[in-house]
Amino acid sequence: DQASTPSASGITVIRKKLQGYVGFANLPNQVHRKSVKTGFQFTCMVVGESGLGKSTLVNTLFNTQLYPPKEIAELTAELPQTVEIKSTTADIEENGVKLKLTVVDTPGFGDFVNNEESWKPILDDIESRCDAYLEQENRVNRRKMADNRIHACLYFISPTGHALKAVDIEFMRRLHTRVNLIPIIAKADTMTEEEVVAFKERILADINYHQIQIYQAPVYEYDDMETIAENSEIMSKIPFAVVGSDKEFDVDGRRVRGRMYPWGIIEVDNEDHCDFVKLRQMLIRTHMEELKEYTNDVLYENYRTEKLTAMGIQQDPSVFKEVNPTQKMEEERLAHEQKLAKMESEMRAVFQAKVTEKEAKLKHSEAELYARHKEMKEALDRQRADLEEKKRRLESGRPNTPEKGKKKGFSFNK
Ligand code: GTP
Repeated sequence: DQASTPSASGITVIRKKLQGYVGFANLPNQVHRKSVKTGFQFTCMVVGESGLGKSTLVNTLFNTQLYPPKEIAELTAELPQTVEIKSTTADIEENGVKLKLTVVDTPGFGDFVNNEESWKPILDDIESRCDAYLEQENRVNRRKMADNRIHACLYFISPTGHALKAVDIEFMRRLHTRVNLIPIIAKADTMTEEEVVAFKERILADINYHQIQIYQAPVYEYDDMETIAENSEIMSKIPFAVVGSDKEFDVDGRRVRGRMYPWGIIEVDNEDHCDFVKLRQMLIRTHMEELKEYTNDVLYENYRTEKLTAMGIQQDPSVFKEVNPTQKMEEERLAHEQKLAKMESEMRAVFQAKVTEKEAKLKHSEAELYARHKEMKEALDRQRADLEEKKRRLESGRPNTPEKGKKKGFSFNK
């Protein structure tokens, strides 16, 4: 009942067969009940030139009138001048399971003379949806997060039978890192079987040449042979050559959805006629959750990293990188040396400032001394000149003040 197997990492894994019923085998049922209660949500984008049958295919895929039939006025109306982004949401229910389906249409794409920048508004829309999600993640309260990210993008290729057009390549090249791209050959009933096969080859060659990453279903270890075969069958049909129709006809007593031609009826849900069934199987029955997971875990995660890195936010390297002790010591030594050099230069600056101050003071006192010396010298000179004058007068025998003598009425000369 118990088997121990030492694993490569040295950890012993014990596999036990339980004696009684514990109850965790019921976990999938709990998940099922919870999912049925909360319902599912899926957002899909459709891109392609006007009139390629996008609305018809969406209606056919989900078997609903998400897009009501167009009025004559709508069909003859002028095409939009720019690429618009139109979102339509419907709550659909099947056997009690609820699905909130949002289809984002891009009218105007590829409809202009110059379609060089047609991809831009679409890329902006996809990125702004990621930004809105990122903003919610950063909120304090993130209990209720609305996920409006695009989970899959159906790209409609015109059934020309030649190769991809420049606008197709440019669109896929610009968007493949941001969204799950699913290329589709529109209105495949307008081509013969051989033409479809050759066209698919050309498209895949172009996609490879331009290194465009289209959606690839992952293969898991635990997948059984049947699932693996089913998945590879689906993947082998990409790009899906589809036919859409909301009209029904009687064929050998069966009601079938299809398109009527003078030579017969092309059935939408017949795998021998087109790849519609395989597309629906992948998108709805087998890979809806995978598409959502890949959007969240890979596409969104890459976008988030790019965005945060561009904003200068870095992951703390010490959390994820192993610490190299020699490198760490060297870093510390360098930091210490830098600190010492900084202190030395600061001290040098203080010393220099003090010297300059002292020099200025000395210069000032020198100037003062010089001024005093000059003053004293001038005073001495003046004194000497006075004395010399006195001496000269005494030597010549003249009184100092002749005016005084005159006043008293006598003179030494008389
Ligand atoms: P816009 O809304 O103008 O962008 O057009 P759209 O791409 O949504 O095309 P829509 O579904 O309105 O279809 C345009 C025309 O093509 C309609 O007359 C449809 O009946 C026809 N159509 C749709 N799907 C197919 C198809 O698979 N094969 C053929 N032959 N015609 C189709």
